[in-house]
Amino acid sequence: MKGVILAGGLGSRVYPLTYATNKHLLPIYDKPMIYYPIQTLVKAGITEILIVVSGPHAGHFIPVLKNGKEFGVQHLEYAYQEKPDGGIADALLLAEDFADNHSIMTILGDNTTDADVSVPVKNFEEGALIFLKKVPDPKRFGVPTFDPRDPSKIIEIIEKPEKPKSDYAVTGLYIYDKNVFKYIKQCKPSYRGELEITDVNNIYIKNKALVWAELNGYWLDAGTHETLFAANLYWANKKRTALLEKLIKETVR
Ligand code: G1P
Repeated sequence: MKGVILAGGLGSRVYPLTYATNKHLLPIYDKPMIYYPIQTLVKAGITEILIVVSGPHAGHFIPVLKNGKEFGVQHLEYAYQEKPDGGIADALLLAEDFADNHSIMTILGDNTTDADVSVPVKNFEEGALIFLKKVPDPKRFGVPTFDPRDPSKIIEIIEKPEKPKSDYAVTGLYIYDKNVFKYIKQCKPSYRGELEITDVNNIYIKNKALVWAELNGYWLDAGTHETLFAANLYWANKKRTALLEKLIKETVR
């Protein structure tokens, strides 16, 4: 399986920070944000990665990530999304040649998680697999409606619903088979003028080809000032705790 990280957009929700650089290069504790999705992919055994960039600071990625060798990436490619506000599905369409009929794991560049997705990656065969997480504020996300007769099935996903039908958010980690590009081409821009990944997922649902799994671990979309700050706190604390535990092990016998 190949990996695609979507790191475009203007990052307008975190202005003025993104006047200086792309949102996905902002720090989350001791690393630029984009290191986290790269590490999630590499940990799952995916080492051929395309990063889709856009906006005025697209050139900033190359001196930071170079050819990806220090992350264990074997092949790193970049693509440039000409419309930074074209939406997630519009950005993903640029991965068609790179995917070359392989399945792809796609991660939104502002999603950080410590979940291990190597088993679902290994077992994936076809269709789409999305990862859900229970959240206190589902209105900010794509939200699934479950089949009342069979809650293991999703009957629809609604993007930023006024009245969410469940407490789950669709996280920005997705696994798609090669049909994804055909389905993106069937989508029309939404009310916010974007090609929505939710519309793509709803086509998979209509075709009875979408399954879901709960994301097993910490997850946060660091796309606002508040969540960016919260992600910094989480990862700082996690690293500090690990360091403390190591120190205790080394000194207390
Ligand atoms: C996007 C997706 C949404 C998903 C979220 C996860 O939202 O459209 O379905 O729940 O990412 O981070 P956006 O960041 O475009 O508002």
